[in-house]
Amino acid sequence: MICIYVSILHLLFWQLIHAYTIHCCFVDLDARSLWVERASLSSTRSAIRDTEISGGRTKELSGFPSFEYHDARLCVESVPLDHISREFDTPCYVYSRSALTTAYREFDTAFAERDHLVCYAVKANPSLAILNLFAKLGCGFDIVSGGELQRVLKAGGDPQKIVFSGVGKRSDEMRAALAANILCFNVESEAELGILNQVASEMDKIAPVSLRVNPDVNARTHTYISTGLKENKFGIPFTEAEKLYTSGKKFANVRIIGLDCHIGSQLTELAPFSEACRKMLSLLDRLEARKLQIEHLDLGGGLGIRYFRENPPSAQNYVAALCADIGHRTQRILIEPGRSLVGNAGLLLTRVEYIKHTSHRDFAIVDAAMNDLIRPALYDAYHEILPVIINGNSIKTYQIVGPVCETGDFLGHDRKLALAKGDLLAVMSAGAYGMSMSSNYNSRPRAAEVMVDGDHIHLIRERESVEQLIAHERILP
Ligand code: LLP
Repeated sequence: MICIYVSILHLLFWQLIHAYTIHCCFVDLDARSLWVERASLSSTRSAIRDTEISGGRTKELSGFPSFEYHDARLCVESVPLDHISREFDTPCYVYSRSALTTAYREFDTAFAERDHLVCYAVKANPSLAILNLFAKLGCGFDIVSGGELQRVLKAGGDPQKIVFSGVGKRSDEMRAALAANILCFNVESEAELGILNQVASEMDKIAPVSLRVNPDVNARTHTYISTGLKENKFGIPFTEAEKLYTSGKKFANVRIIGLDCHIGSQLTELAPFSEACRKMLSLLDRLEARKLQIEHLDLGGGLGIRYFRENPPSAQNYVAALCADIGHRTQRILIEPGRSLVGNAGLLLTRVEYIKHTSHRDFAIVDAAMNDLIRPALYDAYHEILPVIINGNSIKTYQIVGPVCETGDFLGHDRKLALAKGDLLAVMSAGAYGMSMSSNYNSRPRAAEVMVDGDHIHLIRERESVEQLIAHERILP
């Protein structure tokens, strides 16, 4: 009898613990802690290692269409990554042309016959080679600075496919964009509308405008990259938008032609997109009832990618859901994807410089650092880290860290890998917000960038030199 009681109590105890653990993992946690949670799960099982990369055969990596193991060597398209390190050294960003092309086409074809424009969010990766590739595919661009405008024009982007977003555009940037004859300015406040009107009138031009409206929708992503809540700095408050659309007529040198929103980045569910879209559509109906003509609806970017175990909707399902909400309306549809076009088309190649065993932890000190890829340090973001060559050595749990003098300088925690000095590692999903957020902290020159196309490796950005870093500095006379 006592035995039965003890067993029942034991069972109840473990059920309670289990329920509590699930609660802690998935309820009441903001997205930031969820990211951390995912990161700590990594030590147990990896989404990619689920695809059984060991053995001598070809193994495709789920979520990374152009990256696969051939005979235990990680390849980008037909090129083994160790070839790239021999030719271009490490750290090095490596992109796949076919992965970029496939990602763009998936969005574009999903719209089928509907009038649309995919505007790549340049901030995700502003490499001229990537911009040029997208421009040749017919892609438009979402820019947020005069610098990004110059890049897009230099890369052959069509100005009539450029939208200019951003909460703090300067008048010189507006001037450059007006001179280039861009498609549209996404304006975020009445004050900005006033400045744009003034700049346009000085240039004797009419500025085409979309008002970026903040729909107050929870994107359920990391708080730093959530932009569509009323407490965020972005957009015109939903409740004030209609008024500004009507009063906007007083600005003679702007023409309000569109409606825009962007609620955040790395969204892994459709529901917030749908909620924002429906709010925009209700506003659109009210504007049309007031006889205001809205030519396009820009629904922003934000579709997430798989870093670890996320299961974001495909581009096709995402576009289909938006189109279903939009229904019979005839406005042209714009979207501004960044991460989902480039994120899983790139990786950061790095080499193990030192293995350091302490009584407490094992460190692999690699030659890439937080200055090359800041996402782990900044958002506790998880990036899969894979061996470039699979060996049969014994596996240990490593902290993958860089040489920068900060404890926050890590690329991955608690990774189970078989490592030795000189081994190459691939930090996956680094195509978006990797190179574009890199810096020269610790006077570290920025990494080289290459693009693989079949069996060709193209250097698309040379490794920076220290001479280049200090070239613009002056000492006192
Ligand atoms: N449109 C606007 C107005 C944006 O602000 C952004 C991103 C995008 C489009 C593109 O969003 P995407 O499709 O890439 O999610 N550094 C962060 C991400 C910052 C996103 C900023 N805005 C990260 O590494 O996760």
